[in-house]
Amino acid sequence: MHRTDNGLNLPPTAMNEMETLSLERAARGMDVLELGAEYGYSTIVMARVARSVVSVDWHNGYNDNPTIGPSNNDTLWQYVYNIKEVRANVIPIVGRFQDVLPLLGDASFDMIFLDGGHDFEGAKFCFEQGRRLLRPLGAFLCHDYGVDLCNERPVATMLGLTPRSPVVGSLAIFDDYGRQRIDKPLARGVKHLVPEPAA
Ligand SMILES: C[S@@+](CC[C@H](N)C(=O)[O-])C[C@H]1O[C@@H](n2cnc3c(N)ncnc32)[C@H](O)[C@@H]1O
Repeated sequence: MHRTDNGLNLPPTAMNEMETLSLERAARGMDVLELGAEYGYSTIVMARVARSVVSVDWHNGYNDNPTIGPSNNDTLWQYVYNIKEVRANVIPIVGRFQDVLPLLGDASFDMIFLDGGHDFEGAKFCFEQGRRLLRPLGAFLCHDYGVDLCNERPVATMLGLTPRSPVVGSLAIFDDYGRQRIDKPLARGVKHLVPEPAA
């Protein structure tokens, strides 16, 4: 995935300026759960304005979806160094979403920002856990919504979810997420960009 030096003296990222501004606005004053931090760009953007950021990443790259980016890409030490300015406001958790999220309490967050491996199963797991982890009026945001080879839009469609319109770049915002039902069956004609593994 493309990474740029955005000239803001922040770590490299694939997020553009408009997406960054929307993310920052959504995070202001919130207890945030970040799913996918990599070099810490979004962590810093949110932690500067949020009440708190719990930031989960295994810092191991895209092992579940290598078509998107490198596997075994160890970003842990760069991440820890990069976030030093906002450390007081961040609780970093190094681990796999599938292992960490079940350890977190119900209704713990006002906002979740998903920017993970973009594989279908991983994204589905995070969307589903989001229902439990968010407070009733909490918002679920995800990056790379509608981007080729990223499965967040197919997962949202499958779950019957529609983001706020317009989507800014590829940053989708699902408002009142804690109240939305996501138990709809797979809509006909939804094409998985990365096929689900055979049962
Ligand atoms: C797109 S990057 C995050 C980019 C970052 N949000 C930014 O602002 O630039 C995705 C991150 O998700 C992490 N990741 C992918 N699959 C994961 C999983 N199953 N559990 C935990 N982290 C995962 C990768 O290690 C990678 O650092």
